[in-house]
Amino acid sequence: SNGVPDAKNLRVKLVLLGDSGVGKSCIVLRFVRGQFDPTSKVTIGASFLSQTIALQDSTTVKFEIWDTAGQERYAALAPLYYRGAAVAVIVYDITSPESFNKAQYWVKELQKHGSPDIVLALVGNKADLHENREVPVQDGMDYAEKNGMFFIETSAKTADNINQLFEGFTSLFY
Ligand code: GTP
Ligand code: MG
Repeated sequence: SNGVPDAKNLRVKLVLLGDSGVGKSCIVLRFVRGQFDPTSKVTIGASFLSQTIALQDSTTVKFEIWDTAGQERYAALAPLYYRGAAVAVIVYDITSPESFNKAQYWVKELQKHGSPDIVLALVGNKADLHENREVPVQDGMDYAEKNGMFFIETSAKTADNINQLFEGFTSLFY
């Protein structure tokens, strides 16, 4: 062997969960299309998008992304999307303590009913709105650490940490 690893094509099923309005659809739109939509519409049911990224050693990772609807009326559908997911990304809005509480609800739900080997990530979105911050970064970090989760703050608006969020998962699967 010349030490060059064989090319691999990996698939990672990922689900986003979290309160309505925290920016789940905007995070996905930013990752998949490099765009931001300030007039983003609430998601109905769920939407599916995929994005393939190339890693250095000619491995590709295809993310199959379920972007769920955060409105309460859709909560009962969530298991359809997190069942079978390798990664669950639980999103809150750093300007909304209520959305941080809701994120904790989703963590507990996944710990109870998700697959035991699902990888959990906690994401504080809208980091660009730091002047209106109501959830200290330390609170997110502490909660994530206690629950064995990844943690990152992002902004779908400025693109801050969006690629880092997804790229962070790739090493887990190869
Ligand atoms: P549901 O589909 O109802 O669950 O909501 P969602 O979590 O998908 O929220 P969505 O992505 O539609 O974003 C809601 C609102 O927040 C929109 O007005 C977005 O433009 C805005 N938004 C999303 N991400 C950011 C961000 O990083 N910064 C700022 N300032 N606004 C954001
Ligand atoms: Mg949405």
